[in-house]
Amino acid sequence: MTITRQTGLLPDLFDDLGAPALSVPPVAVPGLTVLRGLATPQDRALLAAVDTVTAGAPFRHLVTPGGYTMSVAMTNCGRLGWVSDRAGYRYDPRDPQTGRPWPAMPDLFTCLALRAADAAGFADFVPDACLINLYEPGAKLSLHQDRDEGDFTAPIVSVSLGLPATFLFGGLKRTDRQMPVPLIHGDVAVWGGPWRLAYHGVRALKAGTHPLLGARRINLTFRKAV
Ligand code: SIN
Ligand code: FE2
Repeated sequence: MTITRQTGLLPDLFDDLGAPALSVPPVAVPGLTVLRGLATPQDRALLAAVDTVTAGAPFRHLVTPGGYTMSVAMTNCGRLGWVSDRAGYRYDPRDPQTGRPWPAMPDLFTCLALRAADAAGFADFVPDACLINLYEPGAKLSLHQDRDEGDFTAPIVSVSLGLPATFLFGGLKRTDRQMPVPLIHGDVAVWGGPWRLAYHGVRALKAGTHPLLGARRINLTFRKAV
């Protein structure tokens, strides 16, 4: 199903999500909205949907253009998937590992992303790409900008599940000070507008055991790639 803003389908799908949007005050980090626990009521269904996606497009450790193997394992769903190899970073409509299109974006994912974007003040967001990141203890994501998308007017919506992590949110320059933001199971972080190209990263995941995910953290990053 294609979800657009015009369908009138949206209110029904929103109702399916069960819980109303939380109105917790944002974290005191300029440019970043953290919707604490927004994804928690759907956590089991979200993880079941991740399993469905990874059955068709398994997690893999991508290689950077510089030749490093990333410690975070990744896969995608949606019309486009973010990939990296020796040739560079890009969005690809097909999984290079299978040659098949990426698994469809589950409606539950799309609805959560829209609801989070709305709550953060980005009313027109419809993602066409969802990068799924898998962190095991020690895995980290170094400071970077999300800049492979064709449309920087759309925000980034980032859902945290499983073990807690420390997210680092900086400014528009790599050297700007970064604010550490703890993200726990169910939190949804959103940034965009003037902060769309903010540098960000994730500190090495600490060991632990989460009731639903064990020694893992899963992050869903929703973007509009084209
Ligand atoms: C990312 O920047 O793509 C992922 C952020 C996260 O795992 O929280
Ligand atoms: Fe990112």
